[in-house]
Amino acid sequence: MTATIALITGANKGIGFETARQLGARGITVLLGARDEKRGREAERELREVLPDADGVRFVPLDVTDAKSVQLAADWIDKEYGHLDILVNNAGIARGAPPSQSDLDEMREVYETNVFGVIRVTNAMLPLLRRVPAARIVNVSSEVGSITSQTDPASPLSQMRASLAYPTSKSALNMITAMYAKELRDTPIKVNAANPGYTATDLNRHSGFRSAAEGAEASVHLATLGPDGPSGILWGHLWTAGGPADAYGPLPW
Ligand SMILES: NC(=O)c1ccc[n+]([C@@H]2O[C@H](COP(=O)([O-])OP(=O)(O)OC[C@H]3O[C@@H](n4cnc5c(N)ncnc54)[C@H](OP(=O)(O)O)[C@@H]3O)[C@@H](O)[C@H]2O)c1
Repeated sequence: MTATIALITGANKGIGFETARQLGARGITVLLGARDEKRGREAERELREVLPDADGVRFVPLDVTDAKSVQLAADWIDKEYGHLDILVNNAGIARGAPPSQSDLDEMREVYETNVFGVIRVTNAMLPLLRRVPAARIVNVSSEVGSITSQTDPASPLSQMRASLAYPTSKSALNMITAMYAKELRDTPIKVNAANPGYTATDLNRHSGFRSAAEGAEASVHLATLGPDGPSGILWGHLWTAGGPADAYGPLPW
């Protein structure tokens, strides 16, 4: 039987690490993309201790901002496995200031990872994803990129401080998701955006109210969609004022 192979970028910690753990627990071979060798090897070691199949956990050097690193990762996966079933574009950084004080270099840095990094990795991996009967691409986005939620007075997001770099990078990622889904709609590949919800990780100095394991649930759900599942949607945790803490579903763009 051919193994199901998943690549998760930014998998050495936080939501990416948990996504790898949960996919690995389902018997999927997990390739842990990490830009730092030491952190990547440490994550590989940790996951091998908790997952039943140690051989099914492998660190892959991958800096999403570096075209050479991305191509080397794609070549390595091709050589080792010859295909890829699941790509989780999880790596991300958060910076931001109010629009009137935004620094363009900081914006470029955020877009390089959260926007261009996703395109770079996706295009490098697509030839491998096209070789399997039901590939899945998950772009880890955020509800903060939802223009509808940010402008809806009833949404908790409309109460948050106005900030440019991170939210707009996720709005761009949402449209990127929709456009890949459109281009690939006549193929078996499904492309969706995940909303982890506000999750306690290094990204927000652990201020989130969800655990990393909970934050990974949306990515795992979209990565393992069956043939009838959707393509081209934003799906995940639903944060509504006074609503249940664990609600999931499609979110508005
Ligand atoms: N936490 C939340 O509340 C929340 C909510 C919505 C969406 N998200 C999204 O969820 C994803 C994961 O975030 P997180 O909360 O788990 O944050 P995190 O704990 O800070 O993890 C981010 C991961 O991305 C990696 N990364 C950053 N730049 C990279 C690059 N150039 N190449 C490769 N990897 C890179 C980091 O690696 P290093 O360790 O080397 O820095 C780390 O592994 C992000 O896309 C984030 O925007 C998070």
